[in-house]
Amino acid sequence: MKKGLFITMEGPDGAGKSTQLHFIKSFLEEKGEKAIFTREPGGTPISEKIRKIILDKNNSDMVPMAEALLYAAARAQLVSQVIKPALERGKIVVCDRFVDSSIVYQGYGRGLGESVNVINDYAVAGCIPDITFLMKLAPDLGKSRIKTENKDRIESENSDFHENVYRGYIELEKRYPDRIVTIDAKGTIEEVSREIGAQLERILKNRNDFQ
Ligand code: TYD
Repeated sequence: MKKGLFITMEGPDGAGKSTQLHFIKSFLEEKGEKAIFTREPGGTPISEKIRKIILDKNNSDMVPMAEALLYAAARAQLVSQVIKPALERGKIVVCDRFVDSSIVYQGYGRGLGESVNVINDYAVAGCIPDITFLMKLAPDLGKSRIKTENKDRIESENSDFHENVYRGYIELEKRYPDRIVTIDAKGTIEEVSREIGAQLERILKNRNDFQ
């Protein structure tokens, strides 16, 4: 049986992750790979309920630590119910955001720092992505791509918050050069897809060579 492959997709708000996730889906389908696609926060009935609480704009008094713990709680459920079992069956799992989002949004954005790593060590219980695509886009560009009326509680944060998130991603990129594959998200949809496609070709080839 093939070894499971865990791919995550990261990036600041407005970087175009969703569009490129559609591309990844059709790319893998064309290759005959039956991948499992999921998202954070969410992906299980319990985690989707937690998502509603976290992103609800009425919860403006939520303290940063409660927010970090809720993301981690949703994650623990998703890892245990969906991600781990699929990887054990040799599947490819593609997840829209994962621990890196907590490190940058709660750790850097909210200023919770290292505590976020500690909480999440418990939440993921050793389940770490093999590859993370980081859609890199400066915060001012990302901001201009999201419609104001559609913003959730996190997206509605001020520009200092989003600057810190971006800084966090740059730090992670330096810390995990083997796992994080940076994609320049400034280009057109087709240009970005082409870059991701080339990287996926390489990743799938490596996987097949090592079976
Ligand atoms: P989502 O609705 O999927 O938005 P996007 O399409 O921009 O990914 O993500 C929800 C928001 O939650 C997003 O602004 C990032 C934030 N987030 C965190 O702050 N911490 C986390 O651990 C995760 C997974 C997401």
